[in-house]
Amino acid sequence: MGKIAVYPGSFDPVTNGHCDVVQRSLNLFDKIIIAVATNGTKDPLFTIEERLEMLKETFKEIPGVEVDSFDGLLVEYAAERRADAILRGLRAVSDFEHEFQMALMNRKLNRTVETVFLMTGLRWIFISSSIIKEAARFGGDTRGMVPDNVSQKLREKFGKA
Ligand code: PNS
Repeated sequence: MGKIAVYPGSFDPVTNGHCDVVQRSLNLFDKIIIAVATNGTKDPLFTIEERLEMLKETFKEIPGVEVDSFDGLLVEYAAERRADAILRGLRAVSDFEHEFQMALMNRKLNRTVETVFLMTGLRWIFISSSIIKEAARFGGDTRGMVPDNVSQKLREKFGKA
């Protein structure tokens, strides 16, 4: 059987940085399960359904990518899906402490699941879902930073369709 990675996150919304991580990871894994966490603590802009729809549209032509959602513990979901690894993207040093903490907690909770970090491409290093939402909220053009269907959704969300 091929190698499977679960790529968890809020994806509120998916950015080109996320897409870059998925593309890179397909050189290492046979299947990537993009898993939207439904129990995130943040106040989301998009509903789970909207986030799933945007992700499905974004990756519809990429073989080996599945889009799903999960609630509860990530390690339990990863074990359920028989994943070999949890995949996370790293942009800058500022991501590191939080990511390290999560990876170590996940290892403590289940010693058999490894976390794999991939560096995003340099051109996406400044992009995060939060900064995209901030720009879009005040009318900023997000094209080229998120998939086209997502920038359209952002314009609709903020009444600038
Ligand atoms: O995109 P995000 O918001 O940085 O993703 C964070 C996420 C969803 C990966 C993280 O909050 C998570 O794994 N949530 C599920 C609950 C869980 O397993 N927590 C214990 C690990 S610290």
